[in-house]
Amino acid sequence: MTDTINEQLLDPTEFRRALGAFVTGVTVVTTIQPDGSPRGFTANSFTSVSLDPPLVLVCIAKTASSHAVFSTTDHFAVSVLADAQKAVSGVFASKSPDKFSQVDWHARVTGAPLMSGAAASFDCKTHDVVDAGDHIILIGRVVDFTHTTSSPLGYCRGAYVNFGLSQEALAAAGSRARVGAILELDDGLVFLETANGLELPAGIRLEPSNDPNSLRGVLATLGLDAHLDFLFAVFEGGGGQGAGVNVYYRGRVASDGLALPSARIRVVPLAQIPWSEIRNDAVRSMLERYVRERSEDAFGIYVGDSAAGKVQSLVPSH
Ligand SMILES: Cc1cc2nc3c(=O)[nH]c(=O)nc-3n(C[C@H](O)[C@H](O)[C@H](O)COP(=O)(O)O)c2cc1C
Repeated sequence: MTDTINEQLLDPTEFRRALGAFVTGVTVVTTIQPDGSPRGFTANSFTSVSLDPPLVLVCIAKTASSHAVFSTTDHFAVSVLADAQKAVSGVFASKSPDKFSQVDWHARVTGAPLMSGAAASFDCKTHDVVDAGDHIILIGRVVDFTHTTSSPLGYCRGAYVNFGLSQEALAAAGSRARVGAILELDDGLVFLETANGLELPAGIRLEPSNDPNSLRGVLATLGLDAHLDFLFAVFEGGGGQGAGVNVYYRGRVASDGLALPSARIRVVPLAQIPWSEIRNDAVRSMLERYVRERSEDAFGIYVGDSAAGKVQSLVPSH
C-alpha cells in the first residue's frame, strides 16, 4: 500500500534530476560477443560491491541494444575513463555500428576490450545477473585490474566534470582572469543581452558578491540566485579584451531563483541557442561542447518512459 502511494507521488523527470545529483565516474563496459566481435557501451552506474570476493556491478537498461549480449555473457570488462576521454564516452554512448574502430583498445585476461589510457580497468568473469525493474544488474568477479595516476572523468547532472580543472584554475589565479558561468534554469541557459550580442554572466574574479566586478557580484546584481557546481572550462585568451585566463563554472538557478528578474536576462532552451548571436568564438565553441555533452545525458538517453516506451532526451543528439 505504502509503495503504491509513494510511486504515485514520483514525478519521473524530477526523479531523474534528483538521481543526477549523485556525482559518478564514467566507464565503458565491454565484452566479446559469441560471433567474436567486440561490444560496448558507456555506463556511470558502475559500483564496487565486495572486496572478498572482489565484486563490482554495472546496471544495463533493458532498452539498450546490447542488453541481450550482456545479460548472457560469461565475461566483461569495465574501463574507468580518464578526464581526457570524453570523446570515448561519447562514442560508446552512441549507436555507432563501429565504436571500436574509433578508439584505442587492447585485451588482457578475459579477452574483453579495455580502453587504452583509462584511469583504471577491471576484467571480470560474470558472477550474477539480477533482474531489477527496467534494468539488469550485471555483477562481475574481478580476475584482473589496472590503475594509473590519470585524473578520472566525472559526471554529474547530465554533464561531464573535470576534477583536474580546479588545479589549473588555481594555477591561473593572480593573472588577468575572466570568471563566467554557464547556468541552467529549467531546461534553458541563462544569457545576458548586450550591445555585443548574447553573453554569459561573467566578472573578473569569482567573489565576493558585494564586488560588482566579480561573478558573484554580477549574479547578485542580476537577481540570480545561482549555485555554481563545477568548473567546466579553463582556457587562455578569447575574452575579447586581450590575453587572459577564462574560467567558466557550470551551475543552476532554481526555477524560483530569479529574485529580481532583470530585462537583460534571456533564458534560451538548450536546443534553440541562437549561435550567431554569440560573438565570442571561444565562448561559442565552449557552449557548443556543453550542449553536445548535455545531449548525451545518461538519463536523457537511456531511461525510457516506461509507460510510453519512448526514449527521452532534453536536446537532439548531433
Ligand atoms: C555518462 C553516461 C552514462 C551512462 N550510463 C549508463 C548506464 O549505467 N547504463 C545504461 O544502460 N546506459 C547508460 N548510458 C547510456 C548508454 O551508453 C547508451 O544508451 C548506449 O547507446 C547503449 O549502447 P547500445 O545501444 O549499443 O547498447 C550512459 C550514457 C552516458 C553518456
